[in-house]
Amino acid sequence: MLLGVNIDHIAVLREARKVADPDPLDALSICKRAGADQITIHLREDRRHMQDHDAKNIIEFSTLPVNLECAIEPSMIDIACTLKPHRVTLVPEKREEVTTEGGLAIMGEQAKLKEAIKRLQKNEIEVSLFIDPTLEAVKTSLDLHVEWIEFHTGKYANIYAMLYTNLSKTPHSIPELELSRKILKQMLGDELCNLRLLSCEAMERGLRVAAGHGLNMQNVAEIVEIETIEELNIGQSIVARSVYVGLEQAILDMKAKLIR
Ligand code: PXP
Repeated sequence: MLLGVNIDHIAVLREARKVADPDPLDALSICKRAGADQITIHLREDRRHMQDHDAKNIIEFSTLPVNLECAIEPSMIDIACTLKPHRVTLVPEKREEVTTEGGLAIMGEQAKLKEAIKRLQKNEIEVSLFIDPTLEAVKTSLDLHVEWIEFHTGKYANIYAMLYTNLSKTPHSIPELELSRKILKQMLGDELCNLRLLSCEAMERGLRVAAGHGLNMQNVAEIVEIETIEELNIGQSIVARSVYVGLEQAILDMKAKLIR
């Protein structure tokens, strides 16, 4: 299974102090050495982490394919068409959000999306849509003739965290907690089943399928078992672990989890 390493959080650390380091550009050779298959970066409209010069330099100097995430806004598509990354993943953006909270509202934005996709593909950039795992979103993606979709795994990750991070620290003998544990297990199973069915449907109809958001060393195994998902894009948990084990080791460890 392919691993795209999202290096935005290196820029988050730099921008917290508005200094020059750590420079995400320095991560490129480490990612390559550790076996990453792709570099993923998000150039947000508010430039809260990656800056224009980061995107430019990363796309110019990376020896791995670069997946540039950006909003559907024409000004961002202009930048993408100039920088010409390997792939552009179109994502929703809200100024007030801490991170990308959900998939694109693609059913309501088809005209804008069509225009963005047309321009990107004309520039020989493959296009991915970051979508919630719903049948409607898959069907709309098919109609839009993109090469890839990426399923937002935030809901899966949240249920997993509620089930195994919080409740596991509480006594098991409280019946109400056992009941909520049962419900959460059911929800987790349903979400995995949904991801499995939709990725199979999408792949059979010619879309390539990626997934990402909130994945970490604990919760990734069940997603890796879904054979029709080709690629995962993982950022926060890798960069967080790298504080303790180093970036190269954090990527090596995640890559080992992705072996099928
Ligand atoms: N994929 C997409 C499209 C994203 O926008 C992000 C960041 O929100 C990720 C993957 C990586 O998510 P995380 O940092 O939670 O691993």
